Amino acid sequence: MQIVKSIEEVRSIVRGWRKEGLRVGLVPTMGYLHEGHKSLIVKAVSENDRVVVSDFVNPTQFGANEDLESYPRDIERDAAICEAAGASLVFHPEPEEMYFPDNCTFVDMDGLTKGLCGKSRPTHFRGVCTVVSKLFHIVMPDRAYFGQKDAQQLAVIRRMVRDLNFEITIVGCPIVREKDGLAMSSRNTYLNAEERKAALILHKSLQAAEALMQTGERDVAVIKAAIVERMKTEPLARIDYVEIVDAETLEDAAAIERPVLAATAVYIGKTRLIDNFIFEV
Ligand code: PAF
Repeated sequence: MQIVKSIEEVRSIVRGWRKEGLRVGLVPTMGYLHEGHKSLIVKAVSENDRVVVSDFVNPTQFGANEDLESYPRDIERDAAICEAAGASLVFHPEPEEMYFPDNCTFVDMDGLTKGLCGKSRPTHFRGVCTVVSKLFHIVMPDRAYFGQKDAQQLAVIRRMVRDLNFEITIVGCPIVREKDGLAMSSRNTYLNAEERKAALILHKSLQAAEALMQTGERDVAVIKAAIVERMKTEPLARIDYVEIVDAETLEDAAAIERPVLAATAVYIGKTRLIDNFIFEV
């Protein structure tokens, strides 16, 4: 497995693979890899001849007061995980390689990016769409893999690929959880022991809602209220949002008649965590 830092090197390696007729998968990440990322790489390896993992903390998707500087980084550990999972190439560029100092071109999206995480992170998805488009142009993969934990991101990228005619299949992969149910996230490393315990409230509250739906509850307001009530039993939790939306359009679900996404973002101390589930009727 190779680790490269320049766009030109990635292009030249991928060009070689293409000449051999090989199928290429891309797993975009911001590094500090965990079992969730590993599951994406393993899936990509099973469906492609070569897999590129991008490992880049993308500055344009962080807001002014967010954790760009403190975001955890460890390329050596990441490289070992990628290699063990069967990746062929890690693309680990510096920010200067990805963005010209006078970069003024961005990929933005209306609609899907405005609600949920977009409400409290208004520039986030512009940064995500921009960097993912750039990675798609650099690697030109056949397939790209994203986790369902970032459900809004996955819906946004599917829509971007449709709207901008990228010839790439987007593969969504299930949330990977710790044994006690906490969704894996690089940001879990910010939690102290007390916060780590408190963070379980996200999954527990969503599980309670899922159980309600399974027993036939279809009133969105009732289900949302049940999630909020459960969340409030945890003193360290501060809700950013609890929403139930159409799983594809991300518009408010008036009733549960099509697949819905129940999603939440919650601050545990200073750490903002997200979790969700999709309910298929
Ligand atoms: O999900 C992430 O880690 C990032 O948002 C992504 C897709 C790698 C873009 O920087």
